[in-house]
Amino acid sequence: MNVLLLGSGGREHALAWKLKQSVKLNNLYIAPGNAGTALVGTNVPLAASDFPALKRFALDKRVDMIVVGPEDPLVQGVYDFFRDDEEASHIAVIGPSKAGAQLEGSKDFAKAFMLRHQIPTARYQSVTTATLAEGFRFLESLQAPYVLKADGLAAGKGVLILPSLEEAKQKLREMLDGMFGASSATVVIEEFLSGIECSVFVLTDGNSYQILPVAKDYKRIGEGDTGLNTGGMGAVSPIPFADTTFMKKVEERIIVPTVEGLKKENIEYKGFIFLGLINVKGEPMVIEYNVRMGDPETEVVMPRIQSDLLELFKAVAAGKLHEKTLETDSRTVVTVVLVSGGYPEAYEKGKAISGLDKVEGSIVFHAGTTQKDGQTLSSGGRVLAVTSFGATKAEALETSFRNANAICYDKKYFRRDIGFDL
Ligand code: AMP
Ligand code: GLY
Repeated sequence: MNVLLLGSGGREHALAWKLKQSVKLNNLYIAPGNAGTALVGTNVPLAASDFPALKRFALDKRVDMIVVGPEDPLVQGVYDFFRDDEEASHIAVIGPSKAGAQLEGSKDFAKAFMLRHQIPTARYQSVTTATLAEGFRFLESLQAPYVLKADGLAAGKGVLILPSLEEAKQKLREMLDGMFGASSATVVIEEFLSGIECSVFVLTDGNSYQILPVAKDYKRIGEGDTGLNTGGMGAVSPIPFADTTFMKKVEERIIVPTVEGLKKENIEYKGFIFLGLINVKGEPMVIEYNVRMGDPETEVVMPRIQSDLLELFKAVAAGKLHEKTLETDSRTVVTVVLVSGGYPEAYEKGKAISGLDKVEGSIVFHAGTTQKDGQTLSSGGRVLAVTSFGATKAEALETSFRNANAICYDKKYFRRDIGFDL
C-alpha cells in the first residue's frame, strides 16, 4: 500500500516509524514532514490543509490511504473532502468526518454530546455575549478555581484556570470579546475537577474499537509541573493507576457510550479518539476529547504496539476492526522532549544539532527539525523526543536522560522529572 501521512511533528515521526515496519507498506509519503520523517519515508512539500493539492499528489502517486496526524485538517473536513470526491473517494482517510471532528473542534459540541450520552464530565454552561449574565450566575454557583474554555480550536491555549471569581468574570468578558478570536465567541464554563490526568487512545471503525496503551503527558515547561503550558514535555506508558478496575470503568462509562453515541447520531468516525481523562478518586471523568493521537503520547504509545499498524488501519477503513486483536509490549516506555530555550515563549530556531549519532538504546523522534546542507537544524519549540524502553520507568528514564545529554544544540532544555508523580 502507498500511504500519505499528514503532519510534521514528533507524533508524525512516530506514526511514520511504526507504519514503516508494516509488511503491507509500499511507499510512505509525509506532507510536509520533518528531518525525522525523511529517514523513514519521502517528505512532500505540501500543507496538510491544502486538500486539492493533496488530492493531485495522491492520485499521481497512487496513494491508497491518508493518515491524518493533526486536528486542523480533520476539523476542516479532510475526510469528507476525499469521501465526496468522485476521483478520490477510493482513497481511505484515517480520521473522523468533519462532524466527528467537532468533538475536538467545539468544546460546546463535545459537552452537549457527553450530556446526551450520559458520559461523566464536569458540569458546565456554554456562554456567548448574549448570555453573559447567565454565565456570571453559573460562575457564582461554582467554587474556585474557575475553568474557562474557548469553544473552538486555540492551539492548546484556549483553557484558562482562574483563582478568583472576579478574575473569572473579567476573563470571561475578555474571551467573549475575542481573546482567542472567533474560537472564544462561545466559552464553556466548567466546574473544576481535581485528580490526576491520563490520556486514553481508542482506534475505531465506527462500530468496534481497540483500546491502545494508556499514557500520561507532562504539559508544563517546569519541573514539578510548574510554569507555562507547552505542547508536552514528555510522556510515560503504561500508567499504574490506569489498572484493570479503572479501565473497566473507562470502557463501560466512556468508550462504549462514545462509540455508540457517534453511531446513533450517524456520525462517521474511522480514526483515533483521544480521551483526556481525570481520575477523580478512582472515577474517570472526561476533561476533553481530541480526534487524533496526542503528542508526545504517540512517541510512547506507538513503540508499545506490536501489531501491524497498517493492518489495523486497513481494518478500520474496511469496517473490520472487530476481526483484529491488538498485541502490546508490556515494558514501560518513556519519552523526554528536548525543546528550544525560551519555549513556549520566544525562542530561536536554526540551531545545528549534533550527537544524534551518539544515541544508544533510545529512539529519537524528530519534532521541530529540518535538514539543510547535510546538517540537522532545529525548526520549532519542541525539537526532539527521546524514547526508551525499560523494565521499569526508572530504567527507561535513565536511558532517555543519558541520550538527551548526548544530543547537543545551543540552548537545549528538557525536564528531568518526567513521570515524577506516578
Ligand atoms: P483541555 O484543553 O480541555 O485539555 O484543558 C487543558 C488543561 O486544563 C487540562 O489538561 C487540565 O489540566 C485542565 N483542565 C481542563 N478542564 C478542567 C477541569 N474541568 N477541571 C480541572 N482542570 C481542567
Ligand atoms: N499531549 C496532549 C495533546 O496532544 O493534546
